[in-house]
Amino acid sequence: MKDHPKGLPILFFTEMWERFSYYGMRAILVLYVTEQTISANPGLGWSKADALSLYGWYTMFVYVMSIPGGILADKWLGQKKTVLLGGILIAAGELLLAMQGLTFFYSGLTLLVLGVGALKPNISTMVGGLYKQGDPMRDKGFTIFYIGINIGAATSPLLVGYVGEVYGWHYGFLLAGIGMILGLFVYMWGQKFLKDVGNVVTVKKVEGTNKHVPLTREEKDRIIVMLISFLIVIVFWGAYEQAGGLMNLYTKEKINRVVLGWEIPTSMFQSVPAFFVILLGVPVANYWVKRYKMGKETSSLFKMAVGTMVMGTGFFMMTAAAWQAEETGQAMLIWLILSYLLQVIGELSASPVALSFITKLAPARYASIMMGIYFAATGLGNKLAGMVGALAENAGEFEVFTGIFLFTTLFGVLLLLMLKPLKRLTHGAEELTPESAA
Ligand code: PHE
Repeated sequence: MKDHPKGLPILFFTEMWERFSYYGMRAILVLYVTEQTISANPGLGWSKADALSLYGWYTMFVYVMSIPGGILADKWLGQKKTVLLGGILIAAGELLLAMQGLTFFYSGLTLLVLGVGALKPNISTMVGGLYKQGDPMRDKGFTIFYIGINIGAATSPLLVGYVGEVYGWHYGFLLAGIGMILGLFVYMWGQKFLKDVGNVVTVKKVEGTNKHVPLTREEKDRIIVMLISFLIVIVFWGAYEQAGGLMNLYTKEKINRVVLGWEIPTSMFQSVPAFFVILLGVPVANYWVKRYKMGKETSSLFKMAVGTMVMGTGFFMMTAAAWQAEETGQAMLIWLILSYLLQVIGELSASPVALSFITKLAPARYASIMMGIYFAATGLGNKLAGMVGALAENAGEFEVFTGIFLFTTLFGVLLLLMLKPLKRLTHGAEELTPESAA
């Protein structure tokens, strides 16, 4: 990280704790809500269907609220202050969940949705703001940031999950809250390294009027290509986010989880993708740099298309698992692991790159709102994932896994065919400036 701006570690650790809080809470949400009201560790006693529906809406709304979060930053507060506000709302939300009672539960969830909406898109935009236009370190910076996200995401289901299940759900939520508070400390301490980033951008007015300078042709084209990339994002997460739903249930019911005589608890597999991200983040980024140096195609859109296809082949591994389970009643664990491995290689090719792409293309005064829309697309992807996963109940898992594989492959091929015209719309936003290439 030493070749990167000083602000990067600050954003890295702040977001690591925010994600710790987010994924920790998410790991116990459905378990808490469905637990009987009379038990050693009582929950809310909801049905499975109601719990999953709440989960779907929650995971959609946290990201959809990134749009108001982005607007707030662009128009009034700037990204830096909006991130602080978001962090405070998240910590308060988790602390409310740590208390007993439905009123606390609903108000806690509301604060979390508002808080993540304010923090998540804006902290990502700030990462982009650390780099100059055309700086080749930017994509790597995002990869490092992405690893931070996943350190939080890998550890919290294990820790918050354990505390929540063994000591009590409310202690789990409390731990998630403490995580966010630690993140806030890092962020406030690190303000000195973030002086030039995340401030309000003043918008030029047309002389003599109260109107803002309109968008140029180039900026409009770039916005179009960004909107198209949001479609990729919806498809990508619509497939990938099976992990928490269909893949999770499938792991519980059909995968042979016994290793050396010990049956691994299903929820532990939720940490596997995040661990793969930590392990493979740098090698995958290096692979793309190597290709770039060899003069081969490495545009963001290309990486996003290839990433979607590689992620899709992960579902082909699940096709194999489902086939084996249909033949023999159970599937080998290796299919699941290979599936997550391929999904993560795809994710690392597409997701940090997509974040970086938005910060390269969005006009500065719309940077946060564009990032907000990007995250909202992720939210729609999360909801889509739930809907696709639910199809398995009638259609069967084999069919759904194979369907995802085929669809993502075709979608990727189509993108590759359209690569040239799409790239033209970016008007060289990805080209290196002479000084950065030097
Ligand atoms: N693991 C990623 C994260 O939590 C997943 C994600 C990517 C979520 C992009 C939203 C947008 O950040």
